[in-house]
Amino acid sequence: MLVENFSNAEVLDSYSGKRVFITGHTGFKGSWLSLLLNYAGAVTKGYALAPLYDNSLYKYLESNLDIESQIDDIRNIEKLKKSISDFKPDFVFHLAAQPLVRYSYQYPLETFEVNVIGTAHVLEAIRSLQNKCTAVIITTDKVYENNESGNAFKESDPLGGHDPYSSSKAGAEIITQSYQRSFFPVQMLHNHHKAVATARAGNVIGGGDRATDRIIPDLVRALENNLTLEVRNPSSIRPWQHVLDPLAGYLKLGLLLNFDPLKYTGSYNFGPLESDQCTVKEIVEIAIKQWGSGNYETPEQFDQPHEATNLKLDITKSLTQLQWKPIWDAKTAVEKSIQWYKKINETSGNAMKCCMVNVEEFYKN
Ligand SMILES: NC(=O)c1ccc[n+]([C@@H]2O[C@H](COP(=O)([O-])OP(=O)(O)OC[C@H]3O[C@@H](n4cnc5c(N)ncnc54)[C@H](O)[C@@H]3O)[C@@H](O)[C@H]2O)c1
Repeated sequence: MLVENFSNAEVLDSYSGKRVFITGHTGFKGSWLSLLLNYAGAVTKGYALAPLYDNSLYKYLESNLDIESQIDDIRNIEKLKKSISDFKPDFVFHLAAQPLVRYSYQYPLETFEVNVIGTAHVLEAIRSLQNKCTAVIITTDKVYENNESGNAFKESDPLGGHDPYSSSKAGAEIITQSYQRSFFPVQMLHNHHKAVATARAGNVIGGGDRATDRIIPDLVRALENNLTLEVRNPSSIRPWQHVLDPLAGYLKLGLLLNFDPLKYTGSYNFGPLESDQCTVKEIVEIAIKQWGSGNYETPEQFDQPHEATNLKLDITKSLTQLQWKPIWDAKTAVEKSIQWYKKINETSGNAMKCCMVNVEEFYKN
């Protein structure tokens, strides 16, 4: 069967026995990716800073994960290079980043160092490898120059970014393109054996995210403490997705890129279908209904740094070229996420069990 036609489960199975290096494995998405690759039987190594919170998903999962974990900074090129060259990965998924818009206004230099220079370090470490290696660099839906036209962004649209986070990720895109053209040109594959692509996903939700200034973790904290959530931008539209959907996309992109670098080198959007665009208010109301109680309010006036109002992704390229499509719509994604947070309280922190409920259901499709 053609790799393009592989189901999500067949894609995941294909990673069995493969050597996979994940940067950012201690974060929200990295923890889920580590769990999936464990489930697939991959040989996995992670490189990241220590988990940020006492209730970080990685802390809950760690004792059940078979992963070689290195706690270090991607800004340390020597350590990162040694870590990657010792491991000799078949695949690299680069997720490590400072991923928060509001934090980036407070700490712009740190954001640029981690997201721009950190990405260059990862690519440089890959360049020094002798073995064949396929890399997926994770950026974001926020890399596009957003003129608030309301149109959905295509991969060919201009990069930009108002705030430091968005522009740092656009920077990561440009650096990846430069490494690809300068050091990993597809016509010289027989010399360098490297293939690189970037993945731009929308607003990712799911169980175990504890970050601040993200709608689901903020709401869960409010619900757990019987507080009223302050919703700053109720009418903003974002491309919401359950974490398992973009991760399935990254894994399929990695597999196809490894199989045919000439065809799949490039950038790919991963987001919901065009018919499935929701506002913040709609997401909050679905979540409160699923939790069974809770309140939110919208402050009349508030000071806050600029954030885009509308953000839509055109996912035609991933749908047609990768034969990837989202499994869960935004409503289901919110419901699954809230069920996860309820279940983690009921199971006294058995995150593996909570995650596997989602994984088994998702991979049935
Ligand atoms: N969660 C979302 O909605 C979303 C949407 C689009 C893109 N992304 C991107 O996906 C990736 C993962 O995001 P997340 O939500 O899991 O974030 P997260 O904050 O939960 O995880 C970030 C990870 O990066 C690591 N990291 C941060 N600085 C580092 C450094 N200097 N050196 C080494 N490791 C470092 C952290 O230790 C952690 O493992 C990021 O690249 C982010 O920009 C996330």
